[in-house]
Amino acid sequence: MNIAAPPGTLWRHARLASFQPGVPWGWIENAALWIEGGTLRWVGPESSLPRELPPGLQEHDLQGALVTPGLIDAHTHLVYGGDRAAEFEQRLLGASYEDIARAGGGIRSTVVATRAASDETLFLAAAGRASTLMDEGVTTLEIKSGYGLTQGDEARCLAVARRLGRELPLTVRTTSLAAHALPPEYTGRADDYIDAAITWLAGQQAAGLVDAVDAFCDTIGFTTAQTERIFQAARALGLPVKLHAEQLSDQGGAALAARHGALSCDHLEHLSPAGIAAMAQAGTVAVLLPGAYYFLRETKLPPVPALREAGVPMAIATDHNPGSSPCLSLLLMLNMACTFFRLTPEEAWRGVTVNAARALGLPDRGVLATGLRADFAVWDAEHPRELAYRFGHRPCRRVVQAGREIIHP
Ligand code: NIG
Ligand code: FE
Repeated sequence: MNIAAPPGTLWRHARLASFQPGVPWGWIENAALWIEGGTLRWVGPESSLPRELPPGLQEHDLQGALVTPGLIDAHTHLVYGGDRAAEFEQRLLGASYEDIARAGGGIRSTVVATRAASDETLFLAAAGRASTLMDEGVTTLEIKSGYGLTQGDEARCLAVARRLGRELPLTVRTTSLAAHALPPEYTGRADDYIDAAITWLAGQQAAGLVDAVDAFCDTIGFTTAQTERIFQAARALGLPVKLHAEQLSDQGGAALAARHGALSCDHLEHLSPAGIAAMAQAGTVAVLLPGAYYFLRETKLPPVPALREAGVPMAIATDHNPGSSPCLSLLLMLNMACTFFRLTPEEAWRGVTVNAARALGLPDRGVLATGLRADFAVWDAEHPRELAYRFGHRPCRRVVQAGREIIHP
């Protein structure tokens, strides 16, 4: 029997920020998008729409509405148990993030809550968070482990992340972050913990649970030597690496990551000129996390002018996690990237589309062009700069993911 392919769709009369190279925003004033399967069969101005379109195409008239690529949140820790509202209160009474971490709170308290939570509890909590992000046009999400810190609990958290990608209309990329914090049972034995975490990677990979490997290289995290060992193991398995680098101090982590061809280095408030040069040479993306900067009340800014000057691509992400960025709005991060970090609205937008795709090693998205994925959002705005300018609003009207409309007007 011949099974007919589902009819394609044609979205007409869009004001399109495509992020194709050539013109600012990749702007196409009166654009059409023809979708077949999950792919953009053709994108361009209405005036050059192919004459011979197949019969049965389902047409949508966007009546001049703004369309952008689906948003990509390239750095989250979405799967965890409990919350850290009490720690927030402690910080307001005078304790610092580092004080709390050193006293056994911080990441470790989330580890206790995560280990105690069932798979279903973790899944339902993470699915709720993912849905909130998706309501704002997010169609691709990276999720790190790092709150399990045993072989079984790390695998469980990665499996929950994978399940989100199967059960929600969302692409989920998973990152193994066993080197996030030293679990209590390894106190004083960080090198032994790294040895153990290295042995878990092959199994995670064989089970299809991991797309990349990350570490937290800092005074309250792991040393560059320990990070290097994790990276060597990841690279030996053919897994790409990324790094929480120079968040609270300059450890030279970014240069180390760049030497391993890292997809991205993230945070970067304390990044040095040598780190910037190494990232530029390796083509590593700088993922800036204004939510953590804001919530930890940091005062040292990431070196945006120098990154710009060196041609390092910049991405923006929520860093959603219970300790340093309990934020579920990527649009708010656009605004904060502009207000705090002085990115232009177009740079901020590139940071949640084309450069975010690059930070995840996904060349098929982040831009709306013929042959790429049909992931896009339709907005109640005339121009994407308005979405970086306002904050606390609800402008997302429709979302198409892999060619299917998942949020309707
Ligand atoms: O990206 N810096 C390390 N990890 C997280 C914070 C995790 C936590 O506090 O629970 C971050 O900011
Ligand atoms: Fe993080």
